[in-house]
Amino acid sequence: MQRDTIGIEEMDRPDCDPVLLERTYAQFPLVNRCVAGWRSVYLKLVRPVLPRNRTATILDIGCGGGDIALALLRWAQADGYSVKVTGIDPDPRAHDFAIRAVAVAGLGPGELELRRAMSAELVAEKQVFDVVISNHVLHHLDPMQLAGILADSQLLAGSLAIHSDINRRRSALLFFGLATAPLAGSSLIRRDGLLSIRRSYTTEELAALLPRGWHAHAAGLYRNLAIWHAPQRTGQ
Ligand SMILES: C[S@@+](CC[C@H](N)C(=O)[O-])C[C@H]1O[C@@H](n2cnc3c(N)ncnc32)[C@H](O)[C@@H]1O
Repeated sequence: MQRDTIGIEEMDRPDCDPVLLERTYAQFPLVNRCVAGWRSVYLKLVRPVLPRNRTATILDIGCGGGDIALALLRWAQADGYSVKVTGIDPDPRAHDFAIRAVAVAGLGPGELELRRAMSAELVAEKQVFDVVISNHVLHHLDPMQLAGILADSQLLAGSLAIHSDINRRRSALLFFGLATAPLAGSSLIRRDGLLSIRRSYTTEELAALLPRGWHAHAAGLYRNLAIWHAPQRTGQ
């Protein structure tokens, strides 16, 4: 199946239906829990690099409704870490939803910061986080934006950067189409999700696009992780 480089997801259109978009953000946590595998990525890759001797910092780029940022915060806190998570998204609609979604979580001050921002703004501020992640963002980007987010991630990540996305397979279309049939028409999840699968990379395509120092890892049949480990700095 050829990659779709032309289709635009409805949620990326500034004039998409606001009610359907709101319901889409509200359904992200369910979809992410079912397909994205972040618990396992947290246990295998994120947790081992979190520092214990100071507040650990995690950045979620393109955080959408904020559910993965919140999950990472909760998991790290449950493991005894002092942690601060920052979620950024340039889309005002996503940012506004995330602010409301996180408000009901009853967090303490400084635990989760949500900003309407692109990664380049944080680079300009010379910010550094222990771990930088994204979920379902890479396939939204054109080649220049993809190169930009990877370069920004290297500058922003003190230890590790992980971008998780769909691994394009025909069977994913079948399974996702069947599983989300009950949601059809109630949100953009099904329509955009099927297009997301068509727009995403195979592991081989992703590996060919990644700059030196990154590697593409197939996590199960349907996920790809683009992973970068910061070089050990001398004197640390
Ligand atoms: C499909 S949503 C995924 C949201 C969330 N990460 C999740 O998995 O539920 C993709 C998000 O990426 C954001 N996005 C798109 N291009 C971006 C960019 N260049 N930098 C940061 N975020 C971007 C969009 O605003 C959108 O909210």
